Amino acid sequence: MENKNTLLEVKDLKMHFPIEEGVIIRRKVGYIRAVDGIEFELGEGETLGLVGESGCGKSTTARCVAQLHKPTTGSVLLEGQNLCTSSKVDLLKARMDMQMVFQDPYASLNPRMTAGNIIAEPLQIFKQRGVLNIGSKEIVEKVEMLMEKVGLSRFFRNRYPHEFSGGQRQRIGVARALALDPKIILADEPVSALDVSIQSQILNLLADFQREMNLSYLFIAHDLAVIQHISDRIAVMYLGKIMETSDSEELYKNPLHPYTEALLSAVPIPDPEIERARKRIILTGDVPSPDTERHSCYFYDRCPKKMDKCAEAVPRLEDVGGGHKVACFLHHDSTE
Ligand SMILES: Nc1ncnc2c1ncn2[C@@H]1O[C@H](COP(=O)(O)OP(=O)(O)OP(=O)(O)O)[C@@H](O)[C@H]1O
Ligand SMILES: [Mg+2]
Repeated sequence: MENKNTLLEVKDLKMHFPIEEGVIIRRKVGYIRAVDGIEFELGEGETLGLVGESGCGKSTTARCVAQLHKPTTGSVLLEGQNLCTSSKVDLLKARMDMQMVFQDPYASLNPRMTAGNIIAEPLQIFKQRGVLNIGSKEIVEKVEMLMEKVGLSRFFRNRYPHEFSGGQRQRIGVARALALDPKIILADEPVSALDVSIQSQILNLLADFQREMNLSYLFIAHDLAVIQHISDRIAVMYLGKIMETSDSEELYKNPLHPYTEALLSAVPIPDPEIERARKRIILTGDVPSPDTERHSCYFYDRCPKKMDKCAEAVPRLEDVGGGHKVACFLHHDSTE
């Protein structure tokens, strides 16, 4: 793997949401461990794919990185600056470098704002707060340039979100995210709500911008097939933990964690002979609730290869060679 400058470094990140009870006097009765101690890095111009089933903590991870949630513990370093302990002014500046694209272009765009105003909004906000020095005419020019860039005519500037198709709406979402010339885009399932034929258009658009502007993506998906082609590296998440991470090609060729194997076995292969001969791993049971503290492997309840020691300790995410890390006692003995 190429050695790229690290832009973003996440260490021991935990997000525990309190569960409260009581009408007048509210008291904490427990915690939802949405993210339970994860670490990863993102290099310049790199795409890190974050995959896992629904509810495993992917969106919470992205929101913690963007500081939309204040993490319970851990650090998020953007070019060495810890965003979790930064002052408001420093955080504001850092936010310009890091923008989000959301899953649902229907819900994430304000229906009462025109496309032009939606795209201009981040510029206006940072201008008002005195972080960005930009004139009104420049804003209009920038919005028009961004619209053309994402494949929308600038004459659509005064249209409202309901006057666009789903794919076009997500183009508006991408243009808005690009408005501040960020270094990192946190894309939370940006194509899940779109038609399959339109998914690839948006993915190609994102890939073009990456090449052109050397952007880094944290790309979230629940589907390994979507993430396969666009990621340099992949991290597989389960119940708030990263179970395995490696180079994307290596992960597909040589999956080590039983959970990754199960996820991969569900990805269809476009060759009928290989497809027919293939063994499907069907996971039994549901994803357990993240409201209990675990002292065994987080995948223990559903693992088809579980051993006695998996019930007794939590395996560490350990490098087993060439940057391929796995949290599984089948491959090493390190515990947390
Ligand atoms: N603000 C919140 N307060 C309390 N619990 C939350 C909050 N946000 C998320 N959770 C819980 O945290 C867990 C992880 O949620 P998250 O949205 O991060 O999952 P996800 O991997 O993005 O799922 P999906 O693929 O469905 O989007 C879930 O159990 C969810 O109910
Ligand atoms: Mg999500």
